[in-house]
Amino acid sequence: MSRRNRMKRLARSQVVFLTALLVFLPGHNLYATEGAPGMHEPERRAADLLARMTLTEKIGQMTQVGQFEGGIPDEAREALKAGRIGSVLNEVNVNVVNEMQRIAVEESRLGIPLMIGRDVIHGFKTVLPIPLGQAATWNPELVRKGARMSALEAASSGINWTFAPMIDVTRDPRWGRIAESLGEDPYLHSVLGAAMVKGFQGDDLAEHGSIAACAKHFAGYGASESGRDYNTTNIPENELRNVYLPPFHAAVDAGVATIMASFSDLNGIPATGNSFLMRQVLREEWGFEGFVVSDWASIEQLKVHGLVANDKEAAFEALGAGVNMEMATSTYANHLEELLEEGRISIQQIDEMVEGILRVKFRMGLFENHYTDPSSYPAVSNPEHLAIARITALQSLVLLENRNKVLPLKKDTLGSIAIIGPLADDGYEQMGTWVFDGDAGVSQTPLSAIREFLGTDVRVNHVRAMETTRSRSVDGFEEARAAAEASDAVIVFLGEEAILSGEAHSRADIDLPGSQAELVRVLHGTGKPVIAVVMAGRPLTLGNVLESVDALLFAWHPGSMAGPAIADILFGVESPSGKLPVTFPRMVGQVPIHYAHKHGGKPATAESFKHMDDIPVRMPQTSSGFVSSHLDAGFTPQYAFGYGLSYTEFSYSEIGLSGNRVALGEPVTVKAVVRNTGDVEADEIVQLYVRDLVGNVTRPVKELKGFQRLRLQPGESQTVEFVIGPDDLAFYGRDMKLINEPGDFHVWIGGSSEAELRAEFTVTSD
Ligand code: BGC
Repeated sequence: MSRRNRMKRLARSQVVFLTALLVFLPGHNLYATEGAPGMHEPERRAADLLARMTLTEKIGQMTQVGQFEGGIPDEAREALKAGRIGSVLNEVNVNVVNEMQRIAVEESRLGIPLMIGRDVIHGFKTVLPIPLGQAATWNPELVRKGARMSALEAASSGINWTFAPMIDVTRDPRWGRIAESLGEDPYLHSVLGAAMVKGFQGDDLAEHGSIAACAKHFAGYGASESGRDYNTTNIPENELRNVYLPPFHAAVDAGVATIMASFSDLNGIPATGNSFLMRQVLREEWGFEGFVVSDWASIEQLKVHGLVANDKEAAFEALGAGVNMEMATSTYANHLEELLEEGRISIQQIDEMVEGILRVKFRMGLFENHYTDPSSYPAVSNPEHLAIARITALQSLVLLENRNKVLPLKKDTLGSIAIIGPLADDGYEQMGTWVFDGDAGVSQTPLSAIREFLGTDVRVNHVRAMETTRSRSVDGFEEARAAAEASDAVIVFLGEEAILSGEAHSRADIDLPGSQAELVRVLHGTGKPVIAVVMAGRPLTLGNVLESVDALLFAWHPGSMAGPAIADILFGVESPSGKLPVTFPRMVGQVPIHYAHKHGGKPATAESFKHMDDIPVRMPQTSSGFVSSHLDAGFTPQYAFGYGLSYTEFSYSEIGLSGNRVALGEPVTVKAVVRNTGDVEADEIVQLYVRDLVGNVTRPVKELKGFQRLRLQPGESQTVEFVIGPDDLAFYGRDMKLINEPGDFHVWIGGSSEAELRAEFTVTSD
C-alpha cells in the first residue's frame, strides 16, 4: 500500500473510531457540538474532554518528553497508551511520529493526539538568515513568508509545534543568543515577532501546513548579566514593561498558541517559577488563552537556582506560577499527585493547566488531523522556498562601509578577483546557529555563486588562508597575498563560524576571532581594493579592520542562499537595503550601548567631544568634560541602530504634521518627502522615531514607532506618511500602569536612528 493510501486509511480508521464514540457513547460524547452557551468550540471541547480524564491522564498532558533513540521503546509505547505523554520534542522521522500519534490516538483510552515540538527557528531544510539577519530586512511580510515556508517544510515531517519566535530584546552582543533574537528594539521585535507567529500559524491554526508557534523566552532572558548565557537578570518592573514585555504582548495579540518560560532568574524569582510574569501579566492582564511550556529542564532547575530545595518543591512553584507543560524533566509526573494528596495544590490548578493544553490541541485541529502525509506538502527546498531564502538573505545584508564607491564591482572592468577567507566556501557555517535540520547540501556558497556569476570572463583566485575563523596560524597568508597581488580586487570572507553564537555560546571579546585582522592587513598591504564580507551571529567590534578595508558588507549568517544573495549585492544586481536591528559598539566595554537610551542628567553631545575630533577614539583622554562618556570610546557607537548604506543616496525633507497640537487620545499624522538623489534604483527603509520630552518616568531619547520599505527610481520622490496613535505614545509610568500624558514630543523621519529631520508637537489635556 502506498504511503498516501496508508495515511488515508489511518485517517479513515480515525473517523470510524470517532463515529463509534458518537454512536455508542451518548452522554459521554467528547465531540458533541452542544455545550455551555457562549463557549467557543475548542474551549467547550477541552472542557468536555477534561471532565473525563483521570489524574494520570491529566498529568500526562502536562508532560513533554525528548525523542526516543532508535524507534519507540516498549516503555514509551506503554506510556503513550496510558496517556502519560502529552508531547514529544525533537522527533523528525515522520514514520515514527505517525506511529506515536497512532498509539496515542488509537490505543489510549481518550485518544488525545500529541504535540510534536522542534526548534524550527530560521528554517527547516531550507535555511533562512538567522533571526537577527531577518530583522535587518525590516520586512514583516518577508519574515512572515519565511516562517510559513519553514512551517510547511517542518510539518511534512510531522512537526506541529515550533519553539519560535524568540523575541528576547537584547542590548548585549556578547550574548550568543542575540543571533536568535530580533535585536535591541521592542517595536521592531513586536512587529517582526508577530509576523513570524502569523507565518507559522497561518490564518487558522487548524489549516494544513500551520504549526503552533511558541514565543520565548518569557521573560527578560536577553538581559543576562554580562551577556553570559543563562545568567541572572535584574530588570526593574518599569523597564520590563516598557522594553522586554511588549514583543510578548504583541505575540499574544497575534494569537500565539504557546509561550516558553525562560531559564533565567528575574529579580530573584526564576522566570519558570514567576507568577508575576505568568499569572498576573500573561493571563490576567493580557488574557492569554494558550499554554506555557517550561524551557528544557527549567522546572527542575528551580532547585539549582536555589529557589527550592528539591524537585517536589520545584513542581509546586512552577504549577503555582502557571507552567502548563514540563519540558524534558519529570517533576510534574513524579510529584503532582503527591502534592495533591497532601492538599498543597488543588485539582482545579491542575485542571486549569491541562485545559490550556487541550484548548490548543483542539485549536490546532489535531483531533481531526494528527497523521502526516508528506506527499501532501510541497517538497522541501523547492525553488519557491529557495527564492524566499534568497530574497530574505539579500534584504538582510547591511553595507557598513563603501569608500570611494568601491562597490558594486563591475564585471566588465575586472580581469581577475581574489576570493579569500575561511567563510568563502563553507555551506554549513553560512547557515547559522539553529540548524538541526538544515541541509548544507542545499547551500550555495559565495565562492560558487561568484564563480557562476562571473563565468569564464574573470579569473577567480581562491585561497582559504585560515582553517577556521579562530585559527592563529598565519601559514596561509603568503598564498593569500600572492592571490591578491595577482588580482584586480579582493573579497575577503570573515566572521564567526555558526558555533560561536547561539545558545551557551557567548563571547567576552567580540573582535573578529583568530588572526583575521592580520589577514586583512596583509591583503590591504597589496594596495588592491579590499572588500570584506563578514558573516557573524552578533554585532562585532570591527575597529581593528575598518582602516584596512574599502568596503564592508555585514552578512550575519545568511542561510542556504548566502552565495547568490551576496553576489547580487557585490556586483550591483541589487542595491543593499538592510539596516542594523542592533547597535554596533566601537569597543566591547561600551556594552550595553543602544539607541533608545535615557538622556541622563549629564549627557554627552557632539559639542562636548569637539576637542577630540582629530584624536583616535581609542586613545584614553584625561577628560571629555563632566558628561556621560568613556575616555577611550567616547559615547557614540561604531554604527547606529537603523544604519545601512545603499548604492544610491536618499534625501529627506518637508516634514509636516497634521497639527502641532493634538488632544490626548487623538492621533497625529506625520509626513515627509523621501527622494532618491542618486542614480541607482533601490529600496530604502524609512524610519519614524519619537521622543517624549518629559515623562512621569524618564523616557528614552528616541523610540522607533514605525517604518516602511520603499522602492524608488533614480530621481523619484515619494511622500511617506505615518500615523502616531495614542498607543505609540503610551508608556508604563511610576505606578506600573500604561499611561498617556500631555506634553511635548519630537518626531523624526529618516534613514537611521541618527535621523535629523525633526518636527515637534504638543499633546494637550483638553
Ligand atoms: C532552549 C530553548 C529550546 C529548547 C528545546 C533550550 O535549551 O533554551 O530555546 O527551545 O532548548 O530545544
